[in-house]
Amino acid sequence: MNYTIREIKYSDLGDITELCGSSMPRDSLTNSLLCQKIFDDNDFSNGSTLLAFSSGKLIGFIMAVIRQRENGKQGYIKLLATHPQYRRNGLARELYTRIENKFIENQIKSIRLFESWPNYYMPGLDPFYTEAICFFERMGYKKIGDTSNLSVELSDKNFSTDSEELEIKLGGINIRRAVSGDFDSTLNWIDKNFNAWRGEVEAAFKNNPISIHLAFRNNEIIAFSAYDTNNIGLGWFGPMGTTEAARGKGVGGILLKRCIADMQEIGYNKAIIPWVGPIPFYMHYINSKVDRIFWRYEKILES
Ligand SMILES: CC(C)(COP(=O)(O)OP(=O)(O)OC[C@H]1O[C@@H](n2cnc3c(N)ncnc32)[C@H](O)[C@@H]1OP(=O)(O)O)[C@@H](O)C(=O)NCCC(=O)NCCS
Repeated sequence: MNYTIREIKYSDLGDITELCGSSMPRDSLTNSLLCQKIFDDNDFSNGSTLLAFSSGKLIGFIMAVIRQRENGKQGYIKLLATHPQYRRNGLARELYTRIENKFIENQIKSIRLFESWPNYYMPGLDPFYTEAICFFERMGYKKIGDTSNLSVELSDKNFSTDSEELEIKLGGINIRRAVSGDFDSTLNWIDKNFNAWRGEVEAAFKNNPISIHLAFRNNEIIAFSAYDTNNIGLGWFGPMGTTEAARGKGVGGILLKRCIADMQEIGYNKAIIPWVGPIPFYMHYINSKVDRIFWRYEKILES
């Protein structure tokens, strides 16, 4: 099979959307979402998104990122697709190998699949894409766990928190939407309590209205919840967190419902709660159920 491989250009987005449409029937990626995943990724770099063409037609695509983590650099494959008519010809292997070599040049010690927080499309590999399981296991990946996305239909439901908020106020806790003046104090608090979520929280402050709600006791933040921080347009909730000392008082439930009510107001029909987490908590407050499952994979690179 003859093909050429080159780096991505902005004008390729439409072709990539079409390729993903024919390769990943369980998903519906749009130009705007792919732009968020590729060009709007803070770690997007040349050479990490490759396209394969045959007679001018896009037949393969891979996107990868390197993130700086606490323990060093971590490699991620963020998206991969080969056109159904061109499979089992070694195309994905060729695209993948170029990326893996780049990771090795960058002294990357391990590669994970898709879970490239804070900007990721899926928190792992959807096992219904069985060809992808076969492919990545052949490439040396080992399963390290699984996770799921929950979902809840939003139409005709009431997520009001008025009575709970009255009660919690008597206990000295105030809850409100964040304003731009909360940016520094919220980020400082996130760094101390939930530092992995800094990127998502920063993204929420860019939205209009700001898509974070905060709980305070004695003017100190004790909990937060956010939405539209990743995969904007798909109705993604999260992240959220309550400091340990403030747990068990209903604060998380109110914060969750406030965001879900906002999402309903914006016009989302469905909210996705990705990469959970405490399934019973979400089921209790908003009756969300498992919508998709993902297998998490890692490849340790020889040093
Ligand atoms: C997964 C995918 C990218 C593989 O693309 P491909 O171009 O067919 O892969 P390759 O030809 O390079 O396969 C390399 C090796 O992977 C394994 N493999 C790939 N597809 C396989 C299949 N359907 N069954 C068994 N093994 C498979 C084989 O070992 C293969 O080597 P071999 O053909 O010499 O036996 C393609 O099936 C695809 O686009 N799937 C849908 C998209 C997707 O699921 N992406 C992941 C979610 S984002």
